[in-house]
Amino acid sequence: MSVQHHRVHLHGADVSVLLEIPPQGMPTMVHWGPSLGHPTQASIDALCQGIVTPVGHNAVDEPVIVGLIPSQAAAYSGQPGLTGSRGGRAWSPQFSLVTTQVRATADESGPAQVVMAYRDDDAGLSLDLTVELDRFGLLRSRAVLTNVSDDPEPYQVDRLVLAYPVPGEARELLDFAGRWGQERVPQRHSFTVGTHLRENRRGRTGADSAYVLHAGTRGFGFEQGHVWGVHTAWSGNHVHYAELTFDGLRVLGGGELLLPGEIRLATGESYSSPWIYGSYGVGLDQVAHRFHRYLRAQPKAVGTDRPVTLNVWEAVYFDHDKDRLIDLADRAAALGVERYVLDDGWFGSRRDDFSGLGDWVVSKEVWPDGLHPLIDHVKKLGMQFGLWFEPEMVNPDSDVARAHPEWILSARPEWPVLSRHQQVLNLTIPEAYAHVRDQMRAVLDEYAIDYIKWDHNRDLVEAGSQPAGGRPVVHEQTLAFYRLVDELKAAYPGLEIESCSSGGGRVDLEVLERTDRVWVSDCIDPLERQMMMRWTTQLIPPERMGSHIASGVSHTTGRWHRLGFRAATAVFGHLGIEWDLAKASEDELTELAEWIAFYKQHRELLLNGDLLRIDGLDDNVWQHGVVAHDRSKAILALVFTGEPKTLPGSRLRWRGLDPDARYRVQPLTFGAGWSGMKPPPWWGEAEEEFPGIEITGGELEHVGVAPPVMHPDQVVLFEAVMVQPV
Ligand code: GLA
Repeated sequence: MSVQHHRVHLHGADVSVLLEIPPQGMPTMVHWGPSLGHPTQASIDALCQGIVTPVGHNAVDEPVIVGLIPSQAAAYSGQPGLTGSRGGRAWSPQFSLVTTQVRATADESGPAQVVMAYRDDDAGLSLDLTVELDRFGLLRSRAVLTNVSDDPEPYQVDRLVLAYPVPGEARELLDFAGRWGQERVPQRHSFTVGTHLRENRRGRTGADSAYVLHAGTRGFGFEQGHVWGVHTAWSGNHVHYAELTFDGLRVLGGGELLLPGEIRLATGESYSSPWIYGSYGVGLDQVAHRFHRYLRAQPKAVGTDRPVTLNVWEAVYFDHDKDRLIDLADRAAALGVERYVLDDGWFGSRRDDFSGLGDWVVSKEVWPDGLHPLIDHVKKLGMQFGLWFEPEMVNPDSDVARAHPEWILSARPEWPVLSRHQQVLNLTIPEAYAHVRDQMRAVLDEYAIDYIKWDHNRDLVEAGSQPAGGRPVVHEQTLAFYRLVDELKAAYPGLEIESCSSGGGRVDLEVLERTDRVWVSDCIDPLERQMMMRWTTQLIPPERMGSHIASGVSHTTGRWHRLGFRAATAVFGHLGIEWDLAKASEDELTELAEWIAFYKQHRELLLNGDLLRIDGLDDNVWQHGVVAHDRSKAILALVFTGEPKTLPGSRLRWRGLDPDARYRVQPLTFGAGWSGMKPPPWWGEAEEEFPGIEITGGELEHVGVAPPVMHPDQVVLFEAVMVQPV
């Protein structure tokens, strides 16, 4: 490990970041990628010399560089990192380094963090830049800009983004699109000259968020190719972008998207960008593993004991009938469910989605004795209790909106367009914030509530603050949301919170710093969920994804799926049920209980293992699974998402196991989900179970085994258990 003033080598796991920090101008990332080992100072100096380019034809007379905050002062002609001005002045600052602090990792194994303080006295600005590389090789940085001028004119910040360079071999891009019920749809194309700009003005992370924007070598996949991914950890308006300039500089960047005049810094005031994360790996799985390890190492990380949950939404919707809900609790407990969640409809005049939103008082109409009879019953059955809130939202037809119309976010005296018949409450108004917090606290004080499903069902449109003359406040609203979550978490230790937003519309690393899981999507159709889970795990680990088994006919797609497919899909996340169990047959209930027992038996591995994703043998076949950190066991899924065109002549290969150790690989064939399959001979004769085969991890990867013949929309799970370690 080597550190030299102004050239800092950060090293974490198998990743290196080499920063060149000149006395003037922004730091540049000379390298972000595979480990450089422990280079000597001389070799670091040589590296930094070696990358200096000649001056191009018809170019400025110094080599053009791209700093962590790209700037025109360094002759960079692409997207600037900082835009802003003081009434048209100080728009192109040139920062000088004041101090550099290098902090070591907790175990002193090397530098983990560099904090650089800059100043431009002419512009009246100071800038603090932090760059960290954690022990899992995950990079993150952020910038804090402060107005240090005495000038009474504030400094208006229009943009402050950070950019990480990627090498010329990164020729392809992968990021995500999506919509309600169809979150995280991958899109892939060449990394061409220009800017691939993903802007979000929804005031929430968005179902169409770029999520993780990757650049990689041609044909990169789950396992192969060098891949660099960037994530903007912010739940309000934000950007991700990839840019290639004609001088061959390639960057991946991100930051907050600021609305006009949103940030105006008076003397002494600061603006902090969100954290911009960067994960490099060989293959997308390695990129994902770094994010997962980072989240799992957080002090507030959730454990693997995620309780099996029943959410009543698709079972009863707004029909809050006490006896029916108690009956549902009985049925859930009998199956082994451990947490019961009462969804929308328990408060105010909320008998449908036209009315009552924002009045967080238990409805006397539907709950004359309060929620006590239900909660007492749920607790007696040994289950935890969870409750739905949508704290930032109001129906115009609500007590709160009638009493305080000025509390609605709007840029003009007229309210913005309705969405799901609702408007957004302006949490930047202290009284509005206190009103919501106190109403929520009153409910949390009266009832033993273990879990909140925190929803946010519309975009922010024309989100101005009326008391501030309609000024845009998405930035402050986002901070107020974080503050409210933090305040409630501090006041109710142990309270868990799910981040839901019309399904998976608020999934990012900043919301996950303070919440315990996300609702992946309102679409619980397992075929769609196979795709959504494949890509949602690119950023977050399985234990953070709410993953439910719904009724046979999907409420959002109308497709029917057998229980085996629904359950074998759902067990790779935080398992729940969202189904009117009173309508399930005895056979279905028996099978459901088996799946719940399976999940409980294996959740340590399912929710803690290393994610494994394999492009299947055919466009309609896909493989995924989880492997224990010590490689002693794995649970693997073979999924037919349609009728394959080429099976059964090919071989099923699995990587991820120890190549030299022997494993017993067995299909797990409980429930009725596997009926109709034609097993290959290696499964053996089934008695209680199929005996399977003993094979090494290397053989399984390089030789493989024959797949079964299966139907479309069918999954078979395999367990691989090490029988003979190396
Ligand atoms: C959103 C959520 C659903 C449900 C409804 C209730 O759509 O994503 O799961 O909670 O709100 O209105």
